Amino acid sequence: MRSELAAGSGETMEKRERPRVVLGVSGGIAAYKACELLRRFTESGHDVRVVPTDSALHFVGEATWSALSGNPVATEVWETVHEVPHVRIGQSADLVVVAPATADIMAKAAHGLAGDLLTNTLLTARCPVVFAPAMHTEMWEHPATQENVATLRRRGALVIEPSVGRLTGTDTGKGRFPDPAEIFDLCRQVLARGGRGLPRDLAGRHVVVSAGGTREPLDPVRYLGNRSSGRQGYALARTAAARGARVTLVAGNTELPDPAGVDVVRVGTAQQMREAVLKAAADADAVVMAAAVADFRPAAYAPGKIKKKDGQEPEPIALVRNPDILAELSADRARPGQLVVGFAAETDDVLANGRAKLARKGCDLLVVNEVGEHKTFGSDGNEAVILATDGTETPVPYGPKEALADTVWDLVAPRLADPRP
Ligand code: CTP
Repeated sequence: MRSELAAGSGETMEKRERPRVVLGVSGGIAAYKACELLRRFTESGHDVRVVPTDSALHFVGEATWSALSGNPVATEVWETVHEVPHVRIGQSADLVVVAPATADIMAKAAHGLAGDLLTNTLLTARCPVVFAPAMHTEMWEHPATQENVATLRRRGALVIEPSVGRLTGTDTGKGRFPDPAEIFDLCRQVLARGGRGLPRDLAGRHVVVSAGGTREPLDPVRYLGNRSSGRQGYALARTAAARGARVTLVAGNTELPDPAGVDVVRVGTAQQMREAVLKAAADADAVVMAAAVADFRPAAYAPGKIKKKDGQEPEPIALVRNPDILAELSADRARPGQLVVGFAAETDDVLANGRAKLARKGCDLLVVNEVGEHKTFGSDGNEAVILATDGTETPVPYGPKEALADTVWDLVAPRLADPRP
């Protein structure tokens, strides 16, 4: 069907092979941020048709969408009628992403209205559909919007949770348009699954992921830290969101931007991480401890900077143990059937140490990876063996951290307890 349509429209071979993305833009101020999303799609070789609503054009004009996409732009079904765009655009798309998605467009989509080109496209699309909502907190939280979002999700659309932060004007709250780079990343993951569609095996689940390293302060300017970049934990959070989960990411020290659709709780020390993880875990179906939690912290915190003293050697730094969050989560499950996953960073006897650690920590799965100067920390890739309490061992060859993250969720999803009624 696709090639016939493409052939009929006289497109070049090169263009036909590029993934086809429909960028639906509805009328919100965040429409200007969708230009950045569009640029990322086109620069990475996607063929993008922008379908704005009439009200979106009040914010960003047709010329901008057309110039950035290199494609014609229409809002009404009556334009270029001979091409039957109201059917063709949706049918031939590999992905439809509506960004920003207003309360109005989601209401129309949930009710199957088809008054303009975008709503027609949404009705004819059979590919994955992603909505990136942006609106004021009150509009997002209104039961009408929440019911429409639930309807769209139930039908298989991926509705990203809006970010929390500055909204139009001076108010702040939930409803902010997520970082376009993060929306792009999520769309890339959805597209990468291609014809297999998006596994929705985590839909309706709440998962908690910890990421990054903790910092244990010694005085106001110094701390004990580690070299964790947080990338593996962020990849876990992103992939879980892409598979439909509600995700709480408890992030230690990291430079990474908040993943789209993920609630991020930032913490500094191991003790703060413990508090935040236990709080989020109270209603979680699964908790994955990917953070590099400091095992020790300075026994005392000096409220003033520790100064050098002429002719004297520095005082040794006394350390005390931090709580072991993974062991505590495993021993004291917040909910029956809650699944707990740990990570083990090992330098020697990797598998033997991993097996012993799985037993010692009491978790259900343990992702064991070898670490060293040039391995794992800060790199884009990772390799690991995932050990399970039932004795299975799943090797994951070297690849992107997202691939390892997906394998973790592949193992977690079938082990989750039945959802509560
Ligand atoms: N972890 C934790 N709380 C700590 C230390 C570690 O929850 N205080 C978690 C990590 O998030 C990880 C797992 O425990 O999921 C394993 O951490 P790792 O540093 O590899 O193991 P340790 O328990 O520190 O054991 P050892 O230092 O003996 O290797």
